[in-house]
Amino acid sequence: MANPANPANPASHPRARFSHMKEGTREDWAAISGEFMPYAAALPDRVLAHLRLLEGDCGGFPIDRLTHCLQTATLAHRDGRDEEYVVCALLHDIGDTLGSYNHPDIAAAILKPFVSAENLWMVEKHGVFQGYYFFHHLGLDRNLREHFRGQPELFERTAEFCEKYDAAAFMTDYDNLPLSFFEPMVRRVLSRPRNSMYVKKGEDQLAQAE
Ligand SMILES: [Fe+2]
Ligand SMILES: [Fe+2]
Repeated sequence: MANPANPANPASHPRARFSHMKEGTREDWAAISGEFMPYAAALPDRVLAHLRLLEGDCGGFPIDRLTHCLQTATLAHRDGRDEEYVVCALLHDIGDTLGSYNHPDIAAAILKPFVSAENLWMVEKHGVFQGYYFFHHLGLDRNLREHFRGQPELFERTAEFCEKYDAAAFMTDYDNLPLSFFEPMVRRVLSRPRNSMYVKKGEDQLAQAE
């Protein structure tokens, strides 16, 4: 819902008139759709701002969470991974702030409309696979990922992501690429929703309410 205090939605902009949605009209939804498009277009800005919240918080790790994300993305990029993969690498831990007990789910939810099923699975499951490297130090089962052996391609792909990029991205002396390098990638990937109930089939734009 539009926030009246948000300068992106000044009072002069058209608004729906219903109190209950069952009273909604085509004109109401034309007003809402008209506001939604520019708001959705600014999604990359909000995602990047949220990623920056990770700066300065090490949580006991050798480097802070933003640097870890940049390093994961840098390793993937320099290893020749495509843009969508690199964006997944960059954002894979963006949920650390709000998802203390399920951070991979946050990144997966943000990326779900924009990435392939394979990349989505990799982001969503990276926590379980990353656990292979440390769960045993905490009295947990490091082999929890074995539950997913029945999906060998996804298993190997996600194990490789952790081995080469995620688990490897704690170097204190690595020349990470800056966030500005990845920003255009994030903007491109997050501007093309393809898996959303709000996108019409075969179209790359958000549906008008009808
Ligand atoms: Fe993670
Ligand atoms: Fe990570």
